[in-house]
Amino acid sequence: MLLLVTGGAGFIGSHFIRLILKKHPTWKVINLDKLTYSGNPENLRDVEDGEGGKRYFFVQGDICDAAIVEALFSGVHPLFHAHRSLQHEGPAECPIRTVIHFAAESHVDRSIHDTSAFYRTNVEGTRVLVETARRHWVVGSPASIESPYRLVHVSTDEVYGSLEPHHPPFTEESPIKPNSPYAASKAAADLTVLAYIHTYGLPATLTRCGNNYGPYQHPEKFIPLFITNALEDKPMPMYGDGLQVRDWIYVIDHCNALLKILERGKPGEVYNIGANQERANREVAEFIAQKIGKSRNLIRGVADRSGHDRRYALDVTKIQSALGWKADQSFVQGMESTIQWYKTNHLWWKQLKNEKFWEYFKEIYGSI
Ligand code: NAD
Ligand code: DAU
Repeated sequence: MLLLVTGGAGFIGSHFIRLILKKHPTWKVINLDKLTYSGNPENLRDVEDGEGGKRYFFVQGDICDAAIVEALFSGVHPLFHAHRSLQHEGPAECPIRTVIHFAAESHVDRSIHDTSAFYRTNVEGTRVLVETARRHWVVGSPASIESPYRLVHVSTDEVYGSLEPHHPPFTEESPIKPNSPYAASKAAADLTVLAYIHTYGLPATLTRCGNNYGPYQHPEKFIPLFITNALEDKPMPMYGDGLQVRDWIYVIDHCNALLKILERGKPGEVYNIGANQERANREVAEFIAQKIGKSRNLIRGVADRSGHDRRYALDVTKIQSALGWKADQSFVQGMESTIQWYKTNHLWWKQLKNEKFWEYFKEIYGSI
């Protein structure tokens, strides 16, 4: 099995690659990643240096670049000539039979400040990927359920929009009502994948997960920002009243769900992935301050995020009953190990919190 992972140098993709190489000792992985500010080769340093490194191949490239994507699908990319072990994979005309698509611009705040990269990567990049897959995999008639090919499109609960406190969680049938430019670009990507499934029979599956947290998450996001700022005695900028609710899932739980879907998910289906761990931001912020042993006074109210979604929550009955998956980690366990990881791996995040990061911080939060 040769798996193409897009965006594998980011937070979730890097955990997924580590998991795949461990759980499937014969699988090989090609990671196509542009290495934007959020892609970091250090996230997979242990994999590259370890046993799994022999089955891991990195290509720096943009998913919007149709020529690179085509070269990988047709097996003519220089990578295939450079590595003998890749030369025997699959039918000569298309060595890539399985794809998991993580590559995206992923941060809502950045999408509010500049939308362009979001529509380019999340929409056009996804279109390039599914179009290339269609040309290689769906020849003549639409692909059947028994197709040997699979594409998993990793999406988000944000495509469903926002819930009020009394609303039931989103199901896979809930309408798509995205609010932020990030969410709208992901929704456009979802609809594009669904159109390729419907029109051409592309053997693709969609996943919609809640908020992830865990090691290797970029310190621009809420939990790592608050942990690392608290460790450095810097302010923790909480938007609005802090009563917005997110459904938090430990990243390894998400990756285990994705693996199940890759192996046994039904093409054409959408699967919600969530851990039923709803928490208000204020509660999470206070938990972090208390666990790190810092004063709550570090938590500073800042002007609310524009168009801020109030609450996300997911009904995960479908993935539980169809694939027997459920999240393992409780919020407290997951957070304790995450805080410990950031304490131990300060070199990893200190490199990211450089001058450019603090310029960005000032632009988003002003002087706090
Ligand atoms: P991330 O920002 O940490 O990683 C994104 C990766 O994509 C980076 O390595 C980056 O270099 C790469 N990338 C960006 N543009 C690219 C391009 N044009 N070509 C190739 N590579 C490119 O994001 P993440 O948090 O790991 O999220 C991964 C996926 O999961 C995204 O699709 C996101 O929408 C989805 N998702 C994230 C969460 C979450 O809580 N983080 C929850 C649900 C779904
Ligand atoms: O729900 C899934 C989504 O979760 C993913 O699709 C996105 O890629 C991911 O970034 C995340 O989006 P959110 O906007 O929910 O995550 P973020 O970490 O940016 O913020 C979580 C909550 O914390 C949100 O209510 C905003 C708030 N927040 C965030 C930051 C960065 C603050 O109060 N202060 C902050 O500084």
